[in-house]
Amino acid sequence: MFRRSFLRDLWRLATGALLASGFLTVRAALRGRPRDQEPVRFDAAEIEEAISSGGRVLRGMFVTTVDGKPVAVSMRCTHLGCLLILESPSGFRCPCHHSRFDRTGAVLRGPAVQPLRRFELVRVGPNYLARPTGAG
Ligand code: FES
Repeated sequence: MFRRSFLRDLWRLATGALLASGFLTVRAALRGRPRDQEPVRFDAAEIEEAISSGGRVLRGMFVTTVDGKPVAVSMRCTHLGCLLILESPSGFRCPCHHSRFDRTGAVLRGPAVQPLRRFELVRVGPNYLARPTGAG
């Protein structure tokens, strides 16, 4: 009798902990969403440093080069908007439903079907401005 009620309580506790951890993971990922709609300005030195180091996350975007041109790739998953995790050198992984993207933003594995938003970086004086490209 005691053993049965202990196992039932243990089962309820494990189920509750699992649901709570899933909720907290999704909430944390959604809170970190970058604001893709706002213009983003970068200091030229930080862009050049990111590019020379092979790519770096700056203000919620991954700064790298594509075809020799500086670009910023959004780190917001195109499935439901979770913040991606950088997994060098392969690309990005979504912690919510496990989509994968390469470093240019192309989808490697769903459920996401759209590539990540990509911005060209245009030098304007001492800064770079992120401008949306047709890709992503
Ligand atoms: S939010 Fe990224 S795979 Fe669903």
